[in-house]
Amino acid sequence: MFGPVRSYTEGSETQGRPKVEAAQLAAFSHFHCFLPPREETAAQALANLVERWLQRNRASPTVKYQTFNGQSVPVPSLSEQGLHSYAARARRGHGLSPSTESAIYQPPRWEAILAAHARISPRIHRTPILTSASLNAMTGAQLFFKCENLQKTGSFKIRGASNAILSMTEKEVAKGIVTHSSGNHGAAVACAAAWRRVPAWIVMPQNAPAVKVNAIEGYGGKVVFCEPSVTARKATCDRVQAETGAHLVHPYDDDRIIAGQATAAKEFLEDLGDLDAVFAPVSGGGLLSGTCLGAKGIRANVRVFGCEPERADDAYRSLTTGTLQSQDSSDTIADGLRASLAPRTFAILRRHVDRILLVSEEEIISAARLVWERMKIIIEPSSAVAIAPLLKPGVVASLNLPRRADGGAPKLGVIFSGGNVDLSSLLWN
Ligand SMILES: Cc1ncc(COP(=O)(O)O)c(C=O)c1O
Repeated sequence: MFGPVRSYTEGSETQGRPKVEAAQLAAFSHFHCFLPPREETAAQALANLVERWLQRNRASPTVKYQTFNGQSVPVPSLSEQGLHSYAARARRGHGLSPSTESAIYQPPRWEAILAAHARISPRIHRTPILTSASLNAMTGAQLFFKCENLQKTGSFKIRGASNAILSMTEKEVAKGIVTHSSGNHGAAVACAAAWRRVPAWIVMPQNAPAVKVNAIEGYGGKVVFCEPSVTARKATCDRVQAETGAHLVHPYDDDRIIAGQATAAKEFLEDLGDLDAVFAPVSGGGLLSGTCLGAKGIRANVRVFGCEPERADDAYRSLTTGTLQSQDSSDTIADGLRASLAPRTFAILRRHVDRILLVSEEEIISAARLVWERMKIIIEPSSAVAIAPLLKPGVVASLNLPRRADGGAPKLGVIFSGGNVDLSSLLWN
């Protein structure tokens, strides 16, 4: 259980750091690395870890804070007094502080994903899975595309939003819903709020595509614009929430959202049980962490790859450094992928995702164009990010996927996450 902590404190990330700080990082990393199946196990592990640390280090270290998405989050308190009460509370298994909650975070269980699927299925589409002989020939793989671009509201986002909003009590929805979104989550929230007949306030960056603003307003959502940064989104959302009393449905740092997004991969693996790997775009990580849980819940050894624009590469940096990296803004053409991971999604991805693959802006554009031309379906740039890495020469081979028992080319599932594109600059103009 404690092996990885030791290796982390000796690892390159902590070289040259004071021992206390190395131990803090080790503890923090450890908590995110290990997500024991039962909360009691987690609490016990935490208590044990803290006590061992105390036995070894008699120095009085300082409490450290890290900034995640504009929020200051304490790294588990390592003042001796704090640690003792932390350990005691953890051992009793209740009354955990917010920092402890994130330290022993439990991702949604399989039952929560099943419940989400049962809850939302009557309202949403079971989206089709398409294939393309020409894309197979170009990549040397057997490709399957889960078409969430053909989903209600034009993206997978309705899965998480409807799961959250349909599971809320009358009291919770009474004053409406508030969220922040680059567009697709906003449309999904506005749509699901309309099903519950309650108002929805959607905080959007000023540079969101007009088609997404119009869609939200079409569902009856009230759009509130803000500066295009994660910090401004959060501050504006907080203000609207304070003014209206509306319930926040976060676009990804929310278990109800993650469980809902997991249903896309669940359907994918239910329909194609022998997929070797699944590819999904990543921004805040709700879709990708849900994809890990939904796909691996059905086929434990399926590989899951996240795909991300080079210009918004915080997930790649977070997973390679082992520390959650923030990214306040990005100008990538993939407008749905400008946010950054949150504690929940980071914790799930650290455990389950195989790798993050990066793509350039040119690669995103040419992948989108190829899909439009060959497959005759509209995908938005954020969706194209999931197929773009596979079109690069040698990438499929470099994934080191196990040889298939049937000797065939690898079967790869790609989630086309959305199809909401601003068509105003196309040929009819
Ligand atoms: C079309 C599309 N794909 C992917 C994503 C990324 O989803 P997540 O923020 O859950 O990583 C988004 C997010 O807005 C999106 O709109």
